[in-house]
Amino acid sequence: MAPAIAKPLLSDLVAQSGQVPSSHIRPVGDRPDLDNVDHESGAGIPLIDLEQLDGPDRHKVVEAIGSACETDGFFMVKNHGIPKEVVEGMLIVAREFFHMPESERLKCYSDDPKKAIRLSTSFNVRTEKVSNWRDFLRLHCFPLESFIDQWPSNPPSFRSALNENVYLSINTRTLKKSRREVVGTYSTEARKLALRLLEAISESLGLEKGHMVSAMGRQAQHMAVNYYPPCPQPELTYGLPGHKDPNAITLLLQDGVSGLQVQRNGRWVAVNPVPDALVINIGDQVQALSNDRYKSVLHRVIVNSESERISVPTFYCPSPDAVIAPANALVDDDHSLAYRPFTYQAYYDAFWNMGLESASCLDRFRPNKQVD
Ligand code: OGA
Ligand code: NI
Repeated sequence: MAPAIAKPLLSDLVAQSGQVPSSHIRPVGDRPDLDNVDHESGAGIPLIDLEQLDGPDRHKVVEAIGSACETDGFFMVKNHGIPKEVVEGMLIVAREFFHMPESERLKCYSDDPKKAIRLSTSFNVRTEKVSNWRDFLRLHCFPLESFIDQWPSNPPSFRSALNENVYLSINTRTLKKSRREVVGTYSTEARKLALRLLEAISESLGLEKGHMVSAMGRQAQHMAVNYYPPCPQPELTYGLPGHKDPNAITLLLQDGVSGLQVQRNGRWVAVNPVPDALVINIGDQVQALSNDRYKSVLHRVIVNSESERISVPTFYCPSPDAVIAPANALVDDDHSLAYRPFTYQAYYDAFWNMGLESASCLDRFRPNKQVD
């Protein structure tokens, strides 16, 4: 008889065993090969200043965004408009959440990917053969009022304000804001930024500013709060193996610990955290809407033996019933139609069932392919 899984969450399993359990060891040949990673100086991906996005030099910023989407699929942004205290508050609450006792955290546990609010581990424990070195809390957050009451009620700061003293230690000017809920404010601010970026991306393709956003229907927004505990043997496992994001655009907030790597010309490049900057990447839906002009790029997370790492990706998505198809203006004699129309729901189901693999889920929606 297989031994019962003692601890559903990785953080508690590690605390108990102190080594990489066999459930998390990748087969030889599918390991991170940590010596074979490019560590570039600077961020490793383009760093774009959004200061002028709504000013006279907008076209320059739009062009920089377009060129990053074409070549890297990834870039960082600074002066992005989300107040520093909101960003820092979000990271504090995230850490508080994962540092709560196991019994408290387990109240939110579920391995059903269809649940709108859940704490889980790895990626999809129902389908995968080897687990990943990650626990995560997944939250739907738009429209906020439909979901916020289901969010965790502990730590208390999750749905309400941070303790005033904590806020005071971040920035005295934020005292007035301390009455507002931290995670809700972060997700509202992240949505505003996602919409600004989607407008700039549409413009950079020569489309109407609102093209991508209106193609996404009522839209949806999910947040993951990722917790990667320190790992005694980082060479044996992944925080997340190579994957492409299925949504339209992802805004990643990370603490100061490295771990994200992106693929460029077949090599892995480390993305070094830059203070006050967010990492942005194009997901599969923007690739489809752009008729393959912009690329959704493979990325992965590696872990380390010294410190825990926290990251908070915001996944901005079409609504499930939105029909996604390449923009007409981007289909011509030189650029044939790359995808047949599909609903985001069909895409998302295919993504979760396929698991994280490097073969892109988009290929199943090429004009000559049938989805099974
Ligand atoms: C993701 C992801 C990166 C990170 O959750 O899809 O790519 O640094 N996360 O946690
Ligand atoms: Ni990702």
